[in-house]
Amino acid sequence: MSDKEIKSLEAIFEARIARDEKIEPKDWMPEKYRKTHIRQISQHAHSEIVGMLPEGNWISRAPSLRRKAALLAKVQDEAGHGLYLYAACETLGVSRDELYDQLHSGKAKYSSIFNYPTVTWADMGAIGWLVDGAAIINQVPLCNTSFGPYARAMVRVCKEESFHQRQGFEIMLKLCNGTPEQKEMAQDALNRWWWPSLMMLGPTDAESIHTEQSMKWKLKRKTNDELRQQFIDQTVPQADLLGITVPDPDLKWNEETGHYDFGEINWDEFWQVVKGHGPCNKKRMKDRVNAWENGAWVRDAAMAYAEKNEKRKLKEAI
Ligand code: 3HC
Repeated sequence: MSDKEIKSLEAIFEARIARDEKIEPKDWMPEKYRKTHIRQISQHAHSEIVGMLPEGNWISRAPSLRRKAALLAKVQDEAGHGLYLYAACETLGVSRDELYDQLHSGKAKYSSIFNYPTVTWADMGAIGWLVDGAAIINQVPLCNTSFGPYARAMVRVCKEESFHQRQGFEIMLKLCNGTPEQKEMAQDALNRWWWPSLMMLGPTDAESIHTEQSMKWKLKRKTNDELRQQFIDQTVPQADLLGITVPDPDLKWNEETGHYDFGEINWDEFWQVVKGHGPCNKKRMKDRVNAWENGAWVRDAAMAYAEKNEKRKLKEAI
């Protein structure tokens, strides 16, 4: 294709973005748009899949049948989210096997937040409340993202995330209204999960290499800092309601801006975790690869069953 033809296709594409039209897999799109979507959607899918591990750890130790059923359903939802997102990513011309290879070889990124340990039951509350809470704030704007399959996947994901957030908050509420020891567990979980939850929303806008272009293409509808501020403004009153304290001495309501001011985030810690040196990165990867290898027989059985069915159908057609 000549440069002139590409320029004209680009102009049509940009005009469609400006009109808020959805871009569909078979539409022409700039190569950079395709690649950046594969990057973000696959990282998102990997995060959902790795995100099952810290909570899966607690399914067999949930304190009651009701809690076990809710946690099990939540973890299964995360698997479903990963699958919708891998499917959305595949429409951009990358195969599921390539995506799995990238994850299992340690080449792919996934969310920093899932590299922290889950040491008490209160962590299940804090993850639902804070991590899924931050995920909703990040993901609701993505329901309106410009790439059709991603936007449509996000509608269902967000509905399910909302249940996840509520079940987490309810665990926290119960602990905070329980014995002093239970309330202390809730406070301890908030202390450990607060800062990583703020980091989860990505580096500051000044440090974010993709935000400017992604905002132009309407892949991202809000910047990392906007999402972080929204998360803080929404979550601090919830901590007040629970009667526990956000571990930030600089946190203060600012009448003038109508937002909370907050303390310095430890970005060194964030980049260490992103680069693979967080408290659980190695364990998460090992568990994920083990799960993949131990599940080989299920995939083989499914393939054998599909082949058998195919042959039967062919025979019936003759
Ligand atoms: N963890 C790991 N890496 C991160 C990160 C995080 N929390 N935040 C940013 N990064 C990485 C980026 O991937 C990018 O690396 P790359 O160039 O190698 O791809 C680099 O740091 C620079 O960051 P940018 O801000 O420039 O990157 P983005 O514009 O992609 O913004 C994002 C980052 C806000 C996470 C954005 O990608 C996004 O909104 N993604 C979709 C949502 C998502 O993936 N959420 C992850 C959590 S899913 C989840 O929480 C599941 C739920 O069930 C709890």
